[in-house]
Amino acid sequence: MCFAWTVLVVVFLLPGAYSLSRDEFPSHFVFGASTSAYQVEGAANEDGRKPSIWDTFSHAGNANMYKGDGDVACDGYHKYKEDVQLMANMGLDAYRFSLSWSRLIPDGKGPVNPKGLQYYNNLINELISHGIQPHVTLHHWDLPQTLEDEYEGWISKKIVYDFTAYADVCFREFGDRVKYWTTVNEVNIFAMFGYGVGLGPPQRCSPFSVANCSRGNSSTEPYLAAHHMLLAHASATRLYNKKYKGVQHGFIGLNVLTISFVPLANTSGDIIATQRAHDFWNGWVLNPLTFGDYPDIMKRNVGSRLPSFTKKESNMIRNSFDFLGINFYNTFSVNSYPESLNTEAIDFMPDFAAQITMLPENDTSIDLVLDSLKNDYGNVPIYIHENGHKTPHNSSLNDFSRIKYLQKYIGAIAKSIRSGSNIKGYFVWSFMDVFEILTGYEVSLGLYYTDLKDPDLKRHPKLSAKWYSSFLKNKPTEP
Ligand code: NOJ
Repeated sequence: MCFAWTVLVVVFLLPGAYSLSRDEFPSHFVFGASTSAYQVEGAANEDGRKPSIWDTFSHAGNANMYKGDGDVACDGYHKYKEDVQLMANMGLDAYRFSLSWSRLIPDGKGPVNPKGLQYYNNLINELISHGIQPHVTLHHWDLPQTLEDEYEGWISKKIVYDFTAYADVCFREFGDRVKYWTTVNEVNIFAMFGYGVGLGPPQRCSPFSVANCSRGNSSTEPYLAAHHMLLAHASATRLYNKKYKGVQHGFIGLNVLTISFVPLANTSGDIIATQRAHDFWNGWVLNPLTFGDYPDIMKRNVGSRLPSFTKKESNMIRNSFDFLGINFYNTFSVNSYPESLNTEAIDFMPDFAAQITMLPENDTSIDLVLDSLKNDYGNVPIYIHENGHKTPHNSSLNDFSRIKYLQKYIGAIAKSIRSGSNIKGYFVWSFMDVFEILTGYEVSLGLYYTDLKDPDLKRHPKLSAKWYSSFLKNKPTEP
């Protein structure tokens, strides 16, 4: 289909396309797109970078989930100038990306790699010279392997010290230009995938794991890993506030994968289980950050396996952020366990004592999460760091379903802002098709497509990239 026709289709045939306008958002609202280091950079063995737990995980075969690794990925390491140019052409206000800790400090602690510094300085400078705000995440699933080998990474409290020292290097080197820092990406799902069900690095064991893992203890480690991520976040934030904020004037936050939960049936059992699911999943991270402790139901159900915060730690964690980064993809229905067994459902965690079932995309809604943040968590400033739609990797560039998805979510966010939600920005996951955590290169969420067999890895805009660009430029009928 020629471009003029596709634009006409987008504008007139897709519901909502014509009515959605950037004018509905506050003038300072930030629109961007996201990626993460291991998923786009490639150059895994170049210029002094050492492996992270994600390299190890993908090279181990990932329980046969998919083939592939991030060794080359989108080759963002070499193509950053081209990519930034595409972002600028698209009209992005901001780009959310992560730093590879083992590119900057190859052993996780100790000497800093000058070539790693150079790469991120180049990328940050390139973004700024094109008028694009860098929003930087310090840890996106890719802990340096050396720290995993030395003391089992996030399940040791030693990580708090090393993470803070790494953060110090990043604030010192990049903080004159980076004003938006996120400490850890998706604390809860990283803890659950990596330490509970074995679906992510460092692939520790679980009795109900789908993965082939051989070490760990899923009844304690997800809680321990998340606990240390929260402490590491709070410690890095305290450092930033004491040492850098006064001169660099930036903002710092933490990222959480939020899920909307709805009762399967209108029974008191399912309604109570839905609150329990919310507390166990969203509250696991949101409660310590806003109230300084885990939800009561977690403390009751998990007992002594749930680490506790000292008074000092609790004070350090409470309000240890300028904004919360939330990722949103799914709504799950919840049925109380074990009264009404549903064979389609997932026994997410035994302690959760409920089964959850992922709802189809049409029934998925971000509103519940946004309402809860507004009503239950003090309406703190939020950036929606990730939201995006999956399609098979080699599907058509005319990705109408992704456009519909973006329209639905951007429209929902405009509505939430009108009803008082404190949302500051929205980032599409992902800027381009990347190496995905669960599906490798088989399923993609990008605005740009890359043919992985093309030696030049040329980026091709999908129709969604053109739509997003038109929306951002407030010119719905122009490319
Ligand atoms: C969340 C993760 O942060 C990101 O790494 C992943 O690729 C997306 N979800 C999509 O699955």
